[in-house]
Amino acid sequence: MTLLRIQTLMSNEISKRIFITRPPEPPSEFLFNDPTNSIFIGTSKIFKVPFTWTFSNITNPHISVVGITGAGKSFFVKTFITRASYVWNTNAIIIDWAGEYISWVKQSGGKVIALSKGDYLNIMDLSGMKPLDRTKQIMNSLDILTDISTYPEQRRLTSEAIEQAYLNLGFPLASPPPPGKEPPTLKDVSKLLDEKLQEGTYEYPAELENAIYRLRQFSREGEDYFANKSTIDIGKLTTSGLVDLDLSSLPDERFRAMAALFILQTLKEKMRLESWSSSAGLKTLVVLDEAWKVASDERSDAVTIIREGRKYSFGLIVASQNPTDVNEAIFSNVGTTFMLRIRFEKFMNYLQGSLNFSDFIRNEISKLGVGQAAIDMAFNTGVRFPNIFLVDKIVGELPLDTYSLFISDILSEKELSDPEIKKEYSLDKMSINSRLIELGFGSEVITKLLSYMNEKGRTLDIRDFIKTAMSYGVNKDTLISFMRSIGISDSIILKIMSYIVV
Ligand SMILES: Nc1ncnc2c1ncn2[C@@H]1O[C@H](COP(=O)(O)OP(=O)(O)OP(=O)(O)O)[C@@H](O)[C@H]1O
Ligand SMILES: [Mg+2]
Repeated sequence: MTLLRIQTLMSNEISKRIFITRPPEPPSEFLFNDPTNSIFIGTSKIFKVPFTWTFSNITNPHISVVGITGAGKSFFVKTFITRASYVWNTNAIIIDWAGEYISWVKQSGGKVIALSKGDYLNIMDLSGMKPLDRTKQIMNSLDILTDISTYPEQRRLTSEAIEQAYLNLGFPLASPPPPGKEPPTLKDVSKLLDEKLQEGTYEYPAELENAIYRLRQFSREGEDYFANKSTIDIGKLTTSGLVDLDLSSLPDERFRAMAALFILQTLKEKMRLESWSSSAGLKTLVVLDEAWKVASDERSDAVTIIREGRKYSFGLIVASQNPTDVNEAIFSNVGTTFMLRIRFEKFMNYLQGSLNFSDFIRNEISKLGVGQAAIDMAFNTGVRFPNIFLVDKIVGELPLDTYSLFISDILSEKELSDPEIKKEYSLDKMSINSRLIELGFGSEVITKLLSYMNEKGRTLDIRDFIKTAMSYGVNKDTLISFMRSIGISDSIILKIMSYIVV
């Protein structure tokens, strides 16, 4: 009996001491690194250690970023890319699904490539690869994006025609391309299949017709973004500073995914060819933001790059609102995961299962505000310590813009002279944004509203703000809650709303 009590006492004592000597943060020597060889992110929440990210003490430079809309994923990506370019001269290629990065890239002096607006990518370009390997890659993209894998005969016909198109132009299939030769396009491939059909000797014409039809989706006039001579030298993308590949105006998800898969394939080959070494800094970052089709498929090169990445100083950043859209292999192999605000239990369960964090961390993640993060790192060390920690706020490169909503035009003389009544409400972009998000605004509406306010010089009559928001589909009650949340009194709100005709 006594013995038992002593034991209980001791284990209590021990557990207390474990808590004291092993706090829920990695040791500061892992968080705070040589500033000339690392990127400042923010201050750790518990011990207030400046956290500077470097890939030299983790398993690989790849990063996943998850969080609900407005949590700060793109903000983080921009900050990270900017600092990486200061510290390591890192090039960055953004595969920009929604066109979110265009204005920032322009402002930062980078280059925007808008597919569908005059720029083309020929997916048969070789960039030093053997035609045989490129053919396999094209077939792999078709496997992911179309139903071709369920029709082996059509698949064979297509793959053969691609090879034939290379042969016809004098490209030996199993050797690197002869210099200065122009590769074929998917139009040439379609033509070969057409000719075969015309000959009339092939015994399954229906198979042939279907193969032609499928390929035509990517080579039809007006939708031939990937079936014309390239206007872009992909081989050079990895060394061109900051490049935004804007996919937003392509007609649909399939086209966007086709472009993304093609870029990843080419980058993977380049990465292998150059065998970049980790001593050379971080040469290139590739960003995949919301590219769920590309990030979720096991066969996509996003997964291959993550798996092989350790050998190369080539980093892939995968950002997503929905962690279950990101392949498990990506989560379990990236060196760093940034978890921003998460709302759904389902996503939290998935993350907790994949990354295996405590309920304490789970609870902390559920309380994160905009720009705050929990970070999981796969440190290269035999020493055991927690590998998840919290950062107060990702400290950005971007200035905090201030916006003003004024109500002076609706106030009476008497109210105007009353010092108790505020005439103008100033809010920084960040707090406008987080309030709107709390109230359930979609990020598209927020972006539209902010850009409307920018057009108006960031200062506008509150009635104008309310009307504009309503024209974007936001309902009256939500706007009333917004006004309350910034401190406008109910009597003033009533007055404002009386101007709004519903
Ligand atoms: N750490 C931060 N510091 C200051 N402002 C921030 C921070 N994080 C985000 N913001 C601001 O919050 C807004 C939303 O951030 P951001 O666009 O990065 O969200 P997101 O997670 O990419 O959303 P979506 O999934 O809709 O693309 C932006 O206006 C951004 O400037
Ligand atoms: Mg974003």
